[in-house]
Amino acid sequence: MDYKVTSNSVEYTHEIGKQLGRCLQGGDVIALIGDLGAGKTAFAQGVGEGLGVASPMASPTFTLIHEYKGQRDGTEIRLIHMDLYRLRHPEEAEVIGIADTFTEDAVCIIEWPEIAEDYLPDDRLTVGILGSGEMTREIVFQSKDSGWEKRLDFLSGEAE
Ligand SMILES: Nc1ncnc2c1ncn2[C@@H]1O[C@H](COP(=O)(O)OP(=O)(O)O)[C@@H](O)[C@H]1O
Ligand SMILES: [Mg+2]
Repeated sequence: MDYKVTSNSVEYTHEIGKQLGRCLQGGDVIALIGDLGAGKTAFAQGVGEGLGVASPMASPTFTLIHEYKGQRDGTEIRLIHMDLYRLRHPEEAEVIGIADTFTEDAVCIIEWPEIAEDYLPDDRLTVGILGSGEMTREIVFQSKDSGWEKRLDFLSGEAE
């Protein structure tokens, strides 16, 4: 599975995140890859909006983990937003309790997930944002889990 969407603005990147957020459910793990300034946090904020998070979402660069309350079909769902940029060793991901965040009552979205790759579930969705600065972004969706293909149907209208 490999979906690609082109984004020409931060608003559109946010919108794609929002559409993804609308189809997420507890237990989903999203690995968000891209350079500094690619738009990972903008995308994650869109996911939060799609999940009904009401409080403002700031970048967790210094705090590593932020947790929010969202809604899915009238039931409360937690959104856990992580940024592992500051980690230097994979073991640090274990120390901060990364595996404990992958539970059925939470959606987890992780910026700079590479260092924790060994701890991430195989059925995660990887979203790569290519480009930075004033460049157009390519947003690429990939997963080993074929279930995502159907769930990402909404993108077929967006992809070229
Ligand atoms: N198409 C685009 N998509 C996302 N962000 C964009 C785009 N074009 C310009 N930007 C800008 O790039 C920056 C992305 O910042 P941020 O979301 O914090 O990135 P990251 O979390 O990947 O470091 C913002 O200042 C945003 O306005
Ligand atoms: Mg960020």
